[in-house]
Amino acid sequence: MNKYIEDNRGRFLDELLDLLRIPSVSADSKFKGDMLKAAEYVRDSISKAGADTAEIYETAGHPVVYGEKIIDPDLPTVLIYGHYDVQPADPYELWNSPPFEPVIKNERIYARGSCDDKGQFYMHIKALETMLATDSLACNVKIMIEGEEEIGSSNLGTFVSENKEMLKCDTILISDTSIIANDVPSIETGLRGLTYVEVEVVGANRDLHSGVYGGGVANPINVLCEMIASLKDENGHITIPGFYNNVEELTTKQRDALNAAPFDLEEYKKDLHINDVLGEKGYTTIERTSVRPTLDVNGIWGGYIGEGAKTVLPSKANAKISMRLVPNQNDDAICALFSKHFESIAPASVKVKVTPHHGGLPYVTPTDSLEYKAAEMAMEESFGIKPIPTRGGGSIPIVALFEQELGRKSILMGFGLDIDALHSPNESYGLFNYYKGIETIPLFFKHYAALRLAKS
Ligand code: BES
Ligand code: MN
Ligand code: MN
Repeated sequence: MNKYIEDNRGRFLDELLDLLRIPSVSADSKFKGDMLKAAEYVRDSISKAGADTAEIYETAGHPVVYGEKIIDPDLPTVLIYGHYDVQPADPYELWNSPPFEPVIKNERIYARGSCDDKGQFYMHIKALETMLATDSLACNVKIMIEGEEEIGSSNLGTFVSENKEMLKCDTILISDTSIIANDVPSIETGLRGLTYVEVEVVGANRDLHSGVYGGGVANPINVLCEMIASLKDENGHITIPGFYNNVEELTTKQRDALNAAPFDLEEYKKDLHINDVLGEKGYTTIERTSVRPTLDVNGIWGGYIGEGAKTVLPSKANAKISMRLVPNQNDDAICALFSKHFESIAPASVKVKVTPHHGGLPYVTPTDSLEYKAAEMAMEESFGIKPIPTRGGGSIPIVALFEQELGRKSILMGFGLDIDALHSPNESYGLFNYYKGIETIPLFFKHYAALRLAKS
């Protein structure tokens, strides 16, 4: 098996580079044509890997690619999920090489989507090819690669609900998360949920002379800043009434286990060029970025930002605010609590409007399931070290929905690193990680099939 990967090393990389050259940015309609091109590329790859079927399915948004290889209905079936859409590459001027012209430097692939998630889902297609070429596929495989993960996966939800029979499986395997380090493998056992809103604060019906009206009429930017500042207290606790009502508090044992994972605060600060960290009082950085909910402003705008100075009281101000959620918070409920609170703290001198964007539920998976064990054994075999269970801070909205609609747990066997700079300029993915993934995935199938057989 490893010989096949070794013999095809160069081609496996070249094919990924071709996929990375397609600017499949889901958020920006000017890339709509490229989204279809990327979907076609993925469909053809699944087909060439040896699947029985591989097709593009239209949705109300960007298409879904789905294919399968059913070798024996009595064997367990694994559904692979990934996303071919990527985040916008802006700001382009901060890239050292163009985001959609991949280059290899220092044993890393630099391109938008190299890790998130093209590099990671493409490992599954190459692993499938390898297993079929070496006659070692141990499970049935279904593979679904979507084009709207980075914009909330709302159309995929409908697709999943409408195609439950086609997607029926025993477990779901996803590579769209990170490990602690190349010599410290780990498996994420949780994801945070998300609720994302946009707010608008409006004062007077027009921009005003800040000398003639200043001091007497509300400045929406000042008001918005005060409102946002009040959303957290001096301990970094979120002040929205009811926000923490359903938050799962970890036991001391669970917290100790989380904090036992290797983590060097000094290294963390050094990497980010910061003198100190900042977060909720009473929790460690690991906890703050995984099992605690957050509230962050992602963007804020209003007033004059051109060259020089303009004396003006702007008529409105806006912000985009996200909240990361943890078990058992519900994204719709939190969104409603936010809206109600935000409207209630607005002074009478302004009007506010809250517009919800996308959301998603948090997710956790147990570590005593057969599928978790199979992933653990696969990584232990390929890395030579047993992986540590961690809790992830990011979100993959469809994962909780898979559980609701298909009644199946997902295994987050990702191979990225924090230094991959997901969503940032100069995103990259290590060649080590790409090939390690291709090597590890067949081991998951092998161990999962064996564990299932031993149990039956
Ligand atoms: N792959 C990431 C999520 C991720 C990254 C999880 C690293 C764990 C470790 C995914 O593509 C992502 O960016 N999700 C968005 C979701 C949103 C746009 C609905 C996120 O977390 O911001
Ligand atoms: Mn991703
Ligand atoms: Mn992403």
